[in-house]
Amino acid sequence: MMGSPPIIRGFSLREELLLSCTIISLFVAVVFPFLYASSVLAVDIKDQTYITWSQDHVKMLDAEKAIQITLDSESGSGFASNQKFLHGSISMEIKLMAGDSAGTVTAYYLSSGINDEFDFEFLGNISGEPYLLQTNVYSNGTSGREHRVSLWFDPAADYHTYSFLWNKYHSVFFVDSTPIRTFANCQALGVPYTSRPMRLYAAIWNGETWATRGGRDKIDWNHAPFVASFRNFTSDACIWQDQDSDCSASTSNAWWEQEAYQALSSDQASKFNMVQNIYTVYDYCKDFKRYPTLPAECNYQV
Ligand SMILES: *[C@@H]1O[C@H](CO)[C@@H](O)[C@H](O)[C@H]1NC(C)=O
Repeated sequence: MMGSPPIIRGFSLREELLLSCTIISLFVAVVFPFLYASSVLAVDIKDQTYITWSQDHVKMLDAEKAIQITLDSESGSGFASNQKFLHGSISMEIKLMAGDSAGTVTAYYLSSGINDEFDFEFLGNISGEPYLLQTNVYSNGTSGREHRVSLWFDPAADYHTYSFLWNKYHSVFFVDSTPIRTFANCQALGVPYTSRPMRLYAAIWNGETWATRGGRDKIDWNHAPFVASFRNFTSDACIWQDQDSDCSASTSNAWWEQEAYQALSSDQASKFNMVQNIYTVYDYCKDFKRYPTLPAECNYQV
């Protein structure tokens, strides 16, 4: 529970009030050895994932270091991580299909099932027009938090790194080293925060009813198959073991909970502001038509 200092394995923690949406900052009184199961894994993607959808539309590349997923008129496809994670950092390099991708959605997301989710969704476009990258956050079943940027590079020309960092304080979506989206822990304002272990998913599907210009541009199947490639899946996060209900408690001392990760650095904040000012084409926090009263967390987007 927020509001009362948690007691972890007998060590008492000091609660500190921060001038942000995140109210608690935990200081461990006694240094204790790291007890959590975290490890940096950047091994063959094949060993870390399983196919969730349409085996025959998924292909290994590069001596099983990369996965290619395909959408054609028969089916989309996808894969997921074997492990679930609760707090830490997850990243992947992704390269999208070039040319006409209108109507397609390439999704890369963390999900607990139905309640908690962080989405990256690449919305395809007609030839020569840019992809939009939509992000969304679900917390305890609440969503409607779309944010869209037009990328400052061609995501089909090369692999780029897309990552999540999340801890007790906030969640950050990165494109390469640029934070494009944050979601602060505003539980103190009554806004649920993502608190469940999540699995990583990737998929490509038919989103022609909405993805491109509000559904006006449909998929041109003459341009199928549509292919997206993923490699270098890296996790430095608490690995959730079933029965282990204290992934969160046992990682209070983990690097991702330390002060440097509780808010954006000033360099990150200036990149973040640049993205909001120049590349953002939609922000639910500025959509007063949709939200005459903005959701409470909107005052705390850094
Ligand atoms: C596709 O490109 C057009 C023209 O640049 C843009 O207005 C539109 O928002 C783009 N749609 C998507 C889904 O990327």
